[in-house]
Amino acid sequence: MRLENKIALITGAGAGIGRASALAMAREGAVVAVADIRGDKVDACVSEIEAAGGTAMGIVADVAKLDEIDRMVTSVVDKYGQLDVMYNNAGVTKRSKFMDIDEELWDWVHGVNAKGVFFCIKRAAETMIKQGSGSIINTASIAGRGFPGTSNAAYAASKGAVIALTMQAARALGRYNITVNSICPGVTRTELMQGILDMRHEKEGIPMDELEVQAARGIPIGRINEASDIGEMAVFLASSAARNITGQSINVDGGLIMI
Ligand SMILES: NC(=O)c1ccc[n+]([C@@H]2O[C@H](COP(=O)([O-])OP(=O)(O)OC[C@H]3O[C@@H](n4cnc5c(N)ncnc54)[C@H](O)[C@@H]3O)[C@@H](O)[C@H]2O)c1
Repeated sequence: MRLENKIALITGAGAGIGRASALAMAREGAVVAVADIRGDKVDACVSEIEAAGGTAMGIVADVAKLDEIDRMVTSVVDKYGQLDVMYNNAGVTKRSKFMDIDEELWDWVHGVNAKGVFFCIKRAAETMIKQGSGSIINTASIAGRGFPGTSNAAYAASKGAVIALTMQAARALGRYNITVNSICPGVTRTELMQGILDMRHEKEGIPMDELEVQAARGIPIGRINEASDIGEMAVFLASSAARNITGQSINVDGGLIMI
């Protein structure tokens, strides 16, 4: 198993990409700390991991709040004595036209997606510097690389921030044997994506099957991601196979964006 003896903390692990990554890492032998703002989803994911024979703990935390980030990481280190993998995956968005973005939307999206990621990296690094090792993974997005189908410009900017932070954190933390990388998912079948499709269906009257066809248009491999496609990349980046990879943001998108 590729992640045996590793303790992994995943944010936004109650659903979608985070949940799929939690299940994939547990299958590879990691003990997984499942963190999410929604307690019912935390409990369900922990139960799923345990039912499959894995080991998990649940933490309810909002990554937009520094005291909750601290409590989240501290509870993992208190219980297991180490933190090997920090996967900063929690993210939010909703569909909005450029001119409709207001301060509330900007602050909500950036509070979770950019500020949350930075302070999770920083708090995890405090522990990882002491232990002299660690893998930090972030979920960015092809939206941060100019994907025209992004949900909104504030979201795209927040994911550009994650890509930039990944490079700066990799430079700052490399000397402590800590790698920092991001995954840029393309269109991925999750609650978040379904919410965007539902909104377009309601507001623009586009039939659901047409929206599904639109979502896969222009993807060379011809299909959108399942959440497990991202989980596979997260396992790789958390494993020793990725030990000399840092500062990278890797697209997992069927070839939709090639930069
Ligand atoms: N689905 C896509 O097409 C897609 C594409 C590119 C990038 N992403 C990114 O992937 C990540 C996961 O998205 P997803 O599609 O799995 O979404 P999702 O909505 O299905 O799951 C996200 C989870 O994060 C949790 N969460 C939200 N705010 C939180 C907070 N403040 N603190 C802690 N947890 C919080 C939610 O409760 C939810 O369980 C996000 O960063 C998203 O931006 C998604």
